Amino acid sequence: MKIDYTSYKDVDLVGKKILMRVDINSNIDLEKMEIRDSPRIRALVPALNEHFKKSAVIILAHQSRPGNDDFIDLDIHAKEIEKYLKRPVKFVKDIYGEQAVQAIKDLKEGETLVLNNVRKFEGEMKGYKDFKEAENTDMVKTLFPLVDYVIVDAFGAAHRAHASIVGWPKMMVGPITDNELNALKKIMENPERPMAMLIGGAKAIDKFKAMKYNFDNEKLDYALCSGLTAILIFEALGKNMGETNHKIIAKDLEENKDMILETYESYKDKIILPEDLIIDDKGSRKTIEIDEAGTYNTTTGDIGLKTVEKFSEIIMKCKTIIANGPPGIFEMEVFREATNKLVETMVQATKQNNALTIIGGGEMGAAAAMSGKAEGISFISTAGGAMLEILSGKDLPMIKALREKKV
Ligand code: 3PG
Ligand code: MG
Repeated sequence: MKIDYTSYKDVDLVGKKILMRVDINSNIDLEKMEIRDSPRIRALVPALNEHFKKSAVIILAHQSRPGNDDFIDLDIHAKEIEKYLKRPVKFVKDIYGEQAVQAIKDLKEGETLVLNNVRKFEGEMKGYKDFKEAENTDMVKTLFPLVDYVIVDAFGAAHRAHASIVGWPKMMVGPITDNELNALKKIMENPERPMAMLIGGAKAIDKFKAMKYNFDNEKLDYALCSGLTAILIFEALGKNMGETNHKIIAKDLEENKDMILETYESYKDKIILPEDLIIDDKGSRKTIEIDEAGTYNTTTGDIGLKTVEKFSEIIMKCKTIIANGPPGIFEMEVFREATNKLVETMVQATKQNNALTIIGGGEMGAAAAMSGKAEGISFISTAGGAMLEILSGKDLPMIKALREKKV
């Protein structure tokens, strides 16, 4: 992937009106309507404070996807930014309509305005192969002339060819992406071996494919699989993981079964699967064997201690460890133990073995922060899927657009 773009450092931003597309997609506690500790917001705030204090900043971002429960307005994100920034942050429940346009026109130096969830604009989420087509959307055509510069710094969503990511006629990179790419350079180019990937959470097939790419290219030594990726592999191998688990991965399994089995067969010594799983037994952790998952037919929300031990042993043998997706549904207290323990092991690997440890993804970053044990991890990335695609050797749409549309 060729990195070549105009940087926010190359221009004078003092007194300028800038539109910043960032990724503050966060884990939301829907009961309290609150953001759970968000590494993405915590990465944005110092960037705003250090570099854009004397500009008028308009923030454009998304939360979740249409149809999901957490596909919500960005007012609570604005409040959260305000909390850390310690100065007022404005919000309009509009993206490029009259209200938004007026608020942008009125915005003064030193002020910050958050626009509403950009995925509420229906032209946003098309995969724009042709970036010019994205330039012709109403949103881009309305917002672009209102500002002096557009900074696209949504590193966590850099793998999406969406209008607000690739559609600006001129665009430059911001400090978050710059910082991330510097930190990730090492694993992109020449990671120290052995290297392990700790794979968990959702988006199972994406993670499986990234793992496969790294094995095929002889870049990876171990894949420690948990979460839905483990369920997917177990089911491909013919195990009954219960209807509750099955429903979530059924489509991925049907479409990719042969590829999953072939990959597993080729790398089965390096793909480490769970030996025990956890179910919720009236608020307590109940450890079950893999073969019992079908009988209990409920969510297996975490990996058991036997598995944690096995994963930990391998982590302590490695010089590079990348965690993508938490091993358990960490939002629920009962499913948090493995995540906490493995974050601790990664910290230990960094300290004792001088290993490079990287945590990726909004979810895993939040899980690590919540564990209170993340201090000592080498780098916490704001990107999950995007990081996987970088590791898969792909040219990310956002980076490509930045290269093609330099200021
Ligand atoms: C993420 O959380 O992975 C990014 O914000 C991108 O979100 P998406 O997978 O819904 O495009
Ligand atoms: Mg996410």
